[in-house]
Amino acid sequence: MGQIDGSGKIDIQNFETIRVEGEVMEYRNLFSPITIGSMTLKNRISMPPMYTKYANADGSISERIKGYFSERAKNGVGFMLIENTCVDWEYGHSIGNPVAICNDRFGAGLNELVEEMHKYGAKIAPELHHTGRLQTWKNIGRQPIAPSSIELPGYDTPREMTAEEIELTIQKYVDAAILAQKVGFDAVWIHGAHGYLISQFVSPLTNLRKDQFGGSFENRIRFSLEIVRRVRAAVGIHFPVGFRFSADEWVPGGFCLEEGIQYAQALELAGVTVLDVSAGGVGSPSNSPMQGQPVNFVAYLAGKIKSSVQVPIFTAGSMGTNPQFAESLLAEGSADVIHFGRSLIADPELPRKLFENHPEEIRPCLRCNECQGIVLNHQGLQCAVNPCVGREYKEKILPVATKKKILVIGAGPCGMQYAITAAQRGHKVTVLEKNKFAGGLVYVAGVPVYKKKELWGLVKYYEKMALKLGITLVLNTEVETDIIEWYEPDQVVLATGAHPLKDKMPGAAEIENAYSVLLNGAVNVGKRVVIIGGSGVGTDLAMYLREKGKDVVILEMLDEVCRELNVLLRSYLLNLLKDNHVETYTNCQVIEISQGKILAQKDGQVITFECDTVISATGFEREDDSVLMSSITRRGIQVKRIGAEKGTGHIMTATRQGFLHAFMDD
Ligand SMILES: Cc1cc2nc3c(=O)[nH]c(=O)nc-3n(C[C@H](O)[C@H](O)[C@H](O)COP(=O)(O)OP(=O)(O)OC[C@H]3O[C@@H](n4cnc5c(N)ncnc54)[C@H](O)[C@@H]3O)c2cc1C
Ligand SMILES: Cc1cc2nc3c(=O)[nH]c(=O)nc-3n(C[C@H](O)[C@H](O)[C@H](O)COP(=O)(O)O)c2cc1C
Ligand code: SF4
Repeated sequence: MGQIDGSGKIDIQNFETIRVEGEVMEYRNLFSPITIGSMTLKNRISMPPMYTKYANADGSISERIKGYFSERAKNGVGFMLIENTCVDWEYGHSIGNPVAICNDRFGAGLNELVEEMHKYGAKIAPELHHTGRLQTWKNIGRQPIAPSSIELPGYDTPREMTAEEIELTIQKYVDAAILAQKVGFDAVWIHGAHGYLISQFVSPLTNLRKDQFGGSFENRIRFSLEIVRRVRAAVGIHFPVGFRFSADEWVPGGFCLEEGIQYAQALELAGVTVLDVSAGGVGSPSNSPMQGQPVNFVAYLAGKIKSSVQVPIFTAGSMGTNPQFAESLLAEGSADVIHFGRSLIADPELPRKLFENHPEEIRPCLRCNECQGIVLNHQGLQCAVNPCVGREYKEKILPVATKKKILVIGAGPCGMQYAITAAQRGHKVTVLEKNKFAGGLVYVAGVPVYKKKELWGLVKYYEKMALKLGITLVLNTEVETDIIEWYEPDQVVLATGAHPLKDKMPGAAEIENAYSVLLNGAVNVGKRVVIIGGSGVGTDLAMYLREKGKDVVILEMLDEVCRELNVLLRSYLLNLLKDNHVETYTNCQVIEISQGKILAQKDGQVITFECDTVISATGFEREDDSVLMSSITRRGIQVKRIGAEKGTGHIMTATRQGFLHAFMDD
């Protein structure tokens, strides 16, 4: 039975019982149970499949992946899906440590994972997956297979599957479903979304077959329906079979919502118990919506599908950004279960915090897609704001033997993360910040409207956690040695970040930089602006100046704008710049700035840009703390410098540095 124990802590494994006992629930629909076939979920909070690449190299379950799932189950997630789970190792395993379910030998590890989730009252299913054409020779040692032989940059051209191979592959999904049921999974999910094998059959762009699996819509969905019918026949009528699909491919010439609805109806008739509505394919906008995109970016599709079928609907897309919206989708009947994806990477305690009605304590996902960028680069999942992801199995934040008075200088993400972890371990922490705001450059990054909610959300979270953990946060205080002496600390941590670089070309001394323009509201900026530097900072500045009605040109000396960003964020920002009519010039190096004019070298020629204001966004350099450090050391106080080695780095570097130093300091 769920109850509030003597210490006032909530038994999070039995949310529903507590609600019935009379708690006033803000998220009453999210915390109501649902029965789907033979499976009852204690709440409507689900973790969608998200590639971690934490499995062992042979596809078996590792301690790392178990730790990652446990942490989320412990904190109240009702249902969890294992990422792309390989049904066909020979042809269909993704690059870099996917989970596999294609052989009985994986059964024992999978069963351990299931048992672990059940300990916490969570239900779990694998997402049966085959890459199809999103594959390379190098990864599988042979030519990839797909419905048709169509080239795709970044992958090796597949050969067309024979009729016999289609039959064999269908059977592999069935065998995997049988194994899933045997090892104790509560359901089985079929991955029919996002441009992988099943959706390659459905899309007219990737299926040019002339046989019964190609051509007409009925033929293109035959592969999916055959898998569903045969999986259903194999697992019996009660075992839940979910099907994840893109209701709209979001690509010109691809399948659209109209076909998505017919597809959903056909899948229902074929025997699915759940439709899991996602969107997108290869070359489409990301199904993991980015900063500035609306919360219903994907979820609008769920309501359309829901009204066309009888089976329960799951949906995803930025729900953690706005849990009230998730709640309203359930209340109005547009969906039955809500996936919280990246928000559960960013904060595994999300369900508990929602249940306790403290959404302000949820560490916000920035919707930056650094996590996806990293897994697409074939490394284990990491997160910009949650430095502990993937370390759950080995690192527990333990209390220290000797409590210290620690002074942290700088309230950027590095300093704040250090302070939070150190305070959680029992130290007495004070943070001194020279600005009138906390957050460091994250605060500045949140000035453009499109990033405000996420970036300032993170700053608010840090302030909230400081209050909660008894960290003293002192603003408007530029630190020099005498101030440090006054606090009598046992240890000083310098997390002072970086300041804007000074450009050296003629005329540069007169111009402002992105940092000050973003902070001062662009007060002295004329109508026509040239920004020197097309990194993420230059892009943010451009977006901000467009909000202010300025005409903006970016000059970038590299061959690409936003080069330092992950591939998803970069392509999103390039589109944003285009849609907002920001002109960009690459391979364009500024050589001189004079009144109203810039001379730049592009492709061996000198060209002139005329403008009212020039602003530098050419980079940052690390604060030089050497004088401060040696004077602190001379006074016999321990001191260390943390943060990016060069420039400003990324939020991920800052939070990881902050966490690891506080974690290891005794
Ligand atoms: C416009 C812009 C957009 C950005 N967008 C992104 C993004 O989308 N994603 C991303 O990952 N990164 C982004 N970044 C980079 C990111 O903000 C930094 O990597 C991160 O803030 C570095 O954290 P930090 O804590 O090490 O340093 P900082 O954020 O620089 O914080 C250092 C703090 O120390 C304070 N300080 C310095 N000296 C003293 C002193 N003597 N006394 C008291 N206080 C002092 C400073 O005032 C500052 O608040 C952006 C940066 C900018 C400028
Ligand atoms: C790092 C990462 C990996 C993902 N991997 C998968 C996957 O293996 N299978 C899948 O169907 N969707 C995958 N997705 C998409 C998510 O399941 C989800 O639909 C999407 O992120 C939108 O939800 P969110 O905004 O709550 O994150 C992945 C998303 C992320 C961020
Ligand atoms: S990396 Fe960014 S998008 Fe991914 S979970 Fe973390 S904060 Fe969210």
